[in-house]
Amino acid sequence: MNPVVERIETALKSAEASLTSAESAAQVEEVRISMLGRKGLFATLTKDMGSATPEERREIGRAFNEGKQRLQDLLAQAEERIKGSGSGEKALDVTLPGRCGAMGHRHPITQMIEDCVAIFRRMGFIVADGPEIETVRHNFDALNAAADHPSREMTDTFYFADGRLLRSQTSTVQIRTMDAVKPPIRIVAPGRCFRRDTPDATHSMNFHQIEGLYVDKNVSMADLKSVLQIFAWELFGKDVRIRLRPHFFPFTEPSVEYDFSCVVCGGKGCNVCKHSGWLEIAGAGMVNPNVFRNVGIDPEEWSGYAFGMGIERLTMLRHRISDIRNLYENDVRFLSQFN
Ligand code: PHE
Repeated sequence: MNPVVERIETALKSAEASLTSAESAAQVEEVRISMLGRKGLFATLTKDMGSATPEERREIGRAFNEGKQRLQDLLAQAEERIKGSGSGEKALDVTLPGRCGAMGHRHPITQMIEDCVAIFRRMGFIVADGPEIETVRHNFDALNAAADHPSREMTDTFYFADGRLLRSQTSTVQIRTMDAVKPPIRIVAPGRCFRRDTPDATHSMNFHQIEGLYVDKNVSMADLKSVLQIFAWELFGKDVRIRLRPHFFPFTEPSVEYDFSCVVCGGKGCNVCKHSGWLEIAGAGMVNPNVFRNVGIDPEEWSGYAFGMGIERLTMLRHRISDIRNLYENDVRFLSQFN
């Protein structure tokens, strides 16, 4: 074989080997320059052709043209492979801005629960909880609800065939806690409750409450009132006043409902407080001695207070939400306002 043709073949073989193992566009470029560059193989061969006979020239010319074509195909293949594998320098531009996933956030109800819990924890309460499926004893009997209390009706409470029910209030956790531990007790219990209400702007069949229970020696209504006042200040600011009104609950005696001065108008009167200047927030009272007896705590030795409030109500007041159903429809356009 003509020595020049041989040089072409050997050079092509080694170029092919480097191209199949090349891992970057720079390595491919290196081969291109060594073969096709100004000082590359094909350029130097052109110079050497001068001394060849016309017959040799034809042979070399063919090898030259075919070799060049073959080399160009190999270069193109290698480039394609590197681009496709994503490891080529051109495929990765580290200067491009990163792609960020959309950030979610906690639901406004969850935020309210966490804020309430944080406030009560600072006052020495710990968190307790109980099941959403409950017994009649925990939801009614032990809480001193009269046998004919209307809230026991099938029309008010969801019952299972086995007689258990979906708890209608977090007061069940008062019983669960006092069954389990001896006083002194300082707990708050946030959780989901269920009632057979017809849904409208202020009613939902499931909703959340946060319950509080404090049992110790010589607990008084003044202790209750101060804790509720501090809670109101912490949640809605230093201008909020509270008031207690006489009420009835089976599990507290005396019982009260408590109001916050309107957090929207400051007490002057507006649509939200129905021009009364006050907002009904929740129920509370001193633990009824019958409840203590039902859980084996001596009412002569121990006294306590309890309170329970609606989380949805507080959330709606905080964000001026006028329809409770918004909180349960999971419409991202609504929820994303509460980040
Ligand atoms: N459980 C009562 C309710 O659902 C609220 C409450 C709790 C009242 C604790 C007094 C004491 O409305």
